[in-house]
Amino acid sequence: MAQRAQARKPEGTEDLLGAREAAWLAMRSAAGELFGRWGFSPVETPMMEQLDVFSRGLGQTTDVVRKEMFRAITQTNLTRALEEGSEAGLKARQRLALRPEGTAGFVRAAIEHDLVPQGGAPVKAWYAGSMFRGERVQRGRLREFHQIGAEVLGSDDPVLDAELIIMLMDFYAALGLPAEALRLRLNSMGCAECRPAYRELVRGYLLDHAGELCDECVARADTNPLRAFDCKNPGCARVMEDAPKITDHLCEDCAEAYAEVKRLLDVAGVPFEEAPTLVRGLDYYTRTVFEVEARGGVGSQSAIGGGGRYDGLVELMGGRPTPGIGFAVGFERTLLAAEALGAKLTFEGEPLVYVAAAGKDGAVRKAVFDLCLALRRAGMRAEADYQGRSLKSQFKQADKLGAVLCVVVGPEELERGEATLRNMASHEQTAATLGAIPETVRTALAEL
Ligand code: HAM
Repeated sequence: MAQRAQARKPEGTEDLLGAREAAWLAMRSAAGELFGRWGFSPVETPMMEQLDVFSRGLGQTTDVVRKEMFRAITQTNLTRALEEGSEAGLKARQRLALRPEGTAGFVRAAIEHDLVPQGGAPVKAWYAGSMFRGERVQRGRLREFHQIGAEVLGSDDPVLDAELIIMLMDFYAALGLPAEALRLRLNSMGCAECRPAYRELVRGYLLDHAGELCDECVARADTNPLRAFDCKNPGCARVMEDAPKITDHLCEDCAEAYAEVKRLLDVAGVPFEEAPTLVRGLDYYTRTVFEVEARGGVGSQSAIGGGGRYDGLVELMGGRPTPGIGFAVGFERTLLAAEALGAKLTFEGEPLVYVAAAGKDGAVRKAVFDLCLALRRAGMRAEADYQGRSLKSQFKQADKLGAVLCVVVGPEELERGEATLRNMASHEQTAATLGAIPETVRTALAEL
């Protein structure tokens, strides 16, 4: 029989296995714990939404919407669209897309379930999950990646902007990323009052410099001039360095709000850099925007998280005017940054204890089983051999698994009601009372 072609994972996706899945779960639980203290509740929204949610929410002229959406369609509807030669006959609810980010879906849910009662306290929610963007795949740039995000709906108080940013920086600190290795970039995007005039200024600037810009940026002058700040073309980036700065053209309210955010970050001792060319890749932003980069980072993919205020989004998506602000952290990029910085993330797993059998008789095997059970039930991570290996190869296996301690039991030890604790780094051995192993191991682990 001919051998079948082996299936491979789609380009730009990853199987989360072993330590990587453990890191994802641990990052989620670190988020749940920290964000919970700041009053955020967990939410999950569908991985797919009607296409409209994204095209309206993120902006028709953004790269994400124009080039990177993963569309989803049932076979029946696809067949029909192909037969008709167009998808024009499909209803909005039949045009679906995988979510490229979490904010638009959350806002859709908040409107649908009326989560923000008028005059009520702001709603704070966080989420974690896969996002999908059809990007050119690179190190740190995937087509399915994972984000942990947080959103607040219902107040435009700049205190919330500052608190959200502080919470984000505390999150990186809780993960074990040193604050001095991170760069928080901050800008204000203005609002419906002051942005239109600024947009016109940038449009004029682009047209004046059309000869030095790429074709796409020239076209952007008419579609979405501010996107030119995001162009990766070095020539365009140079031109945009000297473009008019939004922070010189903010209305009084926006300027005041921006000053207050900066003041509160100073009060909290959170360092930041003002980045007047930071516009972010999605159109919903107003006022405060921010991005966190890891120094010495992941090349062009150095942004490990970012976010901002979106005071017009709820209304744009059909809800009552409701201000909002949020951020999202990229899981894969945060891991890459930690690796590049040599930072040990705090959640790199509970220390492992290996229970080794010196001998194969039934009493020893039973003792190994009992000890593993007792250690696990006492909240520790324990592993043992299931293949009848020799003691020497059990030690090798323990090393391979990354065990920091071994508990060794053999017939003579059992007779004395003891086991031997072996420090896997120093190979130092001490005797311990069998009945008190969980407590002794816990103490030994704490002293490592
Ligand atoms: P974003 O900046 O597009 O913002 O994405 C947030 C983070 O997700 C990025 O900083 C990056 O770490 C990660 N990320 C984005 N694209 C990729 C990719 N292709 N591969 C790997 N990682 C990636 C948002 O998504 C907004 N929804 C954030 C937000 C929430 N704004 C307000 N509320």
